[in-house]
Amino acid sequence: MDSTGISFTALFTGHVWYENGMSTRFFTSPRARLLYKAAQPVERASQRLLGVTIHDILLQRHHIIDHRIDWLIKHEGVSQILEIACGYSPRGYKLSRKYPGLKYVEADLPHMAARKRALLQQHGGFGPDHQVVGCDVFDTGKPHGLDYVMNNVLDPSRPTLIITEGLVNYFRLSDISQVWRRLAQLGRTFPKAWYITDLVPKLKQPWAPLINAGTGMLALATRAHVNLHFRGSAQIEQGLRDCGFSKVVVFKPEQFQDILPIPLPRTAAVAGKRANSIVRVVECQIHSD
Ligand SMILES: C[S@@+](CC[C@H](N)C(=O)[O-])C[C@H]1O[C@@H](n2cnc3c(N)ncnc32)[C@H](O)[C@@H]1O
Repeated sequence: MDSTGISFTALFTGHVWYENGMSTRFFTSPRARLLYKAAQPVERASQRLLGVTIHDILLQRHHIIDHRIDWLIKHEGVSQILEIACGYSPRGYKLSRKYPGLKYVEADLPHMAARKRALLQQHGGFGPDHQVVGCDVFDTGKPHGLDYVMNNVLDPSRPTLIITEGLVNYFRLSDISQVWRRLAQLGRTFPKAWYITDLVPKLKQPWAPLINAGTGMLALATRAHVNLHFRGSAQIEQGLRDCGFSKVVVFKPEQFQDILPIPLPRTAAVAGKRANSIVRVVECQIHSD
């Protein structure tokens, strides 16, 4: 499956993280700034109509995932992270400095991985046990298959966390479910393993038509099948358990409003009331207790 059309969206996110003090300057660029500026009219319309912006969703998901990573490192002894579809995520750069014993593997399509590797090399950004590898989640075998990376690049003796952020809604449920099944199966190699992802479920009226228009535009721009897979937390939990994960927890941004600096939705013109957050962070346990 050719999903290279999605890669440019990482520029936008990388710039949002930088603007909000969550990343370093070398992960943004004039092109990213331009894309960010070009999106502002749509963002303002979304703010007024829906009470939610892409900017806020990106901050919500990133803060919550960071928070859960810290928790799993401190309380469950995670000492190895594979961040798939890393884009311009600053996590490898930041976490391998914060936790020098951590093995951090970033993975993305080969052209994106090469770009990220070059940026890290150029700016002295690699941590002590930190690398960037080419990986296509739909591929198998050497050198870019998910199975190859998980079996040959990762250390099988370490409690491991696998992350995908900003990836899964670009694929049909039938396609991304295959990836989830393989992650759940390959993750059993490790003494303990977890998988964290963000996703946007299907929304109720009156938001649905506007969100559908937004996903349609994104699908055109990325040449991907932008899909909202599940209707609510119960379906998310069931869908991921069906792929082989042993425990699934769905987090909503509102749960973190007292402990994390995350923006929350405002009043939406379309409904005349405060909107609910639309992104979810899903944490799946792979090993059984
Ligand atoms: C929306 S960006 C998300 C990047 C980063 N995680 C973030 O939150 O900004 C999607 C990323 O997925 C990568 N990607 C697209 N198709 C992929 C595939 N089949 N396997 C691995 N990565 C893929 C793209 O290159 C891009 O970096």
